[in-house]
Amino acid sequence: MKVASFFGTRPEAIKMAPLVTALARTPGIHSVVCVTGQHRQMLDQVMDLFGLSADHDMAVMQPSQTLNGLFARVMAGADAILEQEKPDYVLVHGDTSTATACALAAFHRRIPVGHVEAGLRTGDLAQPFPEEMNRRVVDVVSDWMFAPTQTSRANLLAENLQGRIAVTGNTVIDALAALCTRLDTHPTLALSIAARYPWVQAQRRMLLVTGHRRENFGAGFESICCALASLAQRHPDLLIVYPVHFNPAVRSVVQAMLAGRDNIRLIEPLDYADFVWFMRHAYAILTDSGGVQEEAPYLGKPVLVMRDVTERPEAVAAGTVLLVGTQQERIVSQVERLLADPDHHASFARKINPYGDGHASGRIVQALLGQPLQEFMASPIPPAPAATVPVQQPA
Ligand code: UD1
Ligand code: UDP
Repeated sequence: MKVASFFGTRPEAIKMAPLVTALARTPGIHSVVCVTGQHRQMLDQVMDLFGLSADHDMAVMQPSQTLNGLFARVMAGADAILEQEKPDYVLVHGDTSTATACALAAFHRRIPVGHVEAGLRTGDLAQPFPEEMNRRVVDVVSDWMFAPTQTSRANLLAENLQGRIAVTGNTVIDALAALCTRLDTHPTLALSIAARYPWVQAQRRMLLVTGHRRENFGAGFESICCALASLAQRHPDLLIVYPVHFNPAVRSVVQAMLAGRDNIRLIEPLDYADFVWFMRHAYAILTDSGGVQEEAPYLGKPVLVMRDVTERPEAVAAGTVLLVGTQQERIVSQVERLLADPDHHASFARKINPYGDGHASGRIVQALLGQPLQEFMASPIPPAPAATVPVQQPA
């Protein structure tokens, strides 16, 4: 069976890396890796880290690319590869332009599509934009939908889609678990990362920040930056580390509003190994990223999500992720609560794995081969530690 995997952005590469590795090792499968290059630098970082090489590279990225221009280039590039390779199966991941354009190109050629990370929904086409549309379209044309959780399976069932569904867990946990093992078993790797960031000190609390969502562009990002500036000023002992996404729409605002402050480090997007090291050292994480919402609970890190809705409700329900939106006052007050109240912090900082157990890729390969598989079941959520501060009684 010839299986062509298509991906092109940083999160897709991280989440497809374990699957592509598993496919390459499976007798009876001929794995073809096709990258769009939607993210040039950030994709290449991940390919290097996981030792992946592309059989096809469409190199579509342009500075400040428009959604339509990008989509058209990816669809044309994917079509040419499909014509040449004639795969039996196409795999795409998630909700990017790469995923949707490649899935549609395969559909037009009547090649069955497998959707990795199927069934995530907010129910609002404007949030996240354009990802909620992208993932719905991919699921409509998919033959196999690999749902990470029971919640995502339920979303798919509610839509009466034609494809088959398997609950596999999210492959991001396969990638993260592999990285954590690498960091733990190769102390020189962790030491070499630490040596690159001598300004990260164990005794100084660190807030790790990422942000890139299109629906937050403009007022949302300005408000986020005001919140960070205010936190930096009110808490000189706090270190804020922000690896700034390459998108110029993000960079221009962040640089203009936050550069030159003593306790805010604006740095380049980090290699995945370095970012995992930063997540492990963070006191808390402030983000609008999808992947980080899935990784942080596995690491036991509190996450404040700068969005109004999330398609990843499992960790919110478990109490380790809190939606804070983009309003300055709310971000500041929620970060300050985590800083001031160790019991509140501890109630967030519980290791849970609602998103995966590290075996999602194996399950997806089994499904493709028509083998029976044991679906992913999230482990029970441990209870929150009892509050030790006296609860105030109403007067
Ligand atoms: C894209 C995805 C989004 C995903 C995010 C992950 C779409 C529509 N959006 O958003 O779903 O959550 O990636 O990060 O598919 N750039 C570089 N180098 C890079 C990457 C980006 O210079 O390695 C710059 C380029 O100027 C590019 C711009 O960032 O034009 C925007 O990239 P694009 O992929 O269009 O959108 P993202 O905001 O990254
Ligand atoms: N990430 C990284 N370096 C960074 C920031 C994030 O490697 O500087 C990783 C992060 O651990 C997660 C993924 O990138 O696995 C998330 O990517 P992003 O936030 O760009 O996209 P999203 O998940 O929101 O689609």
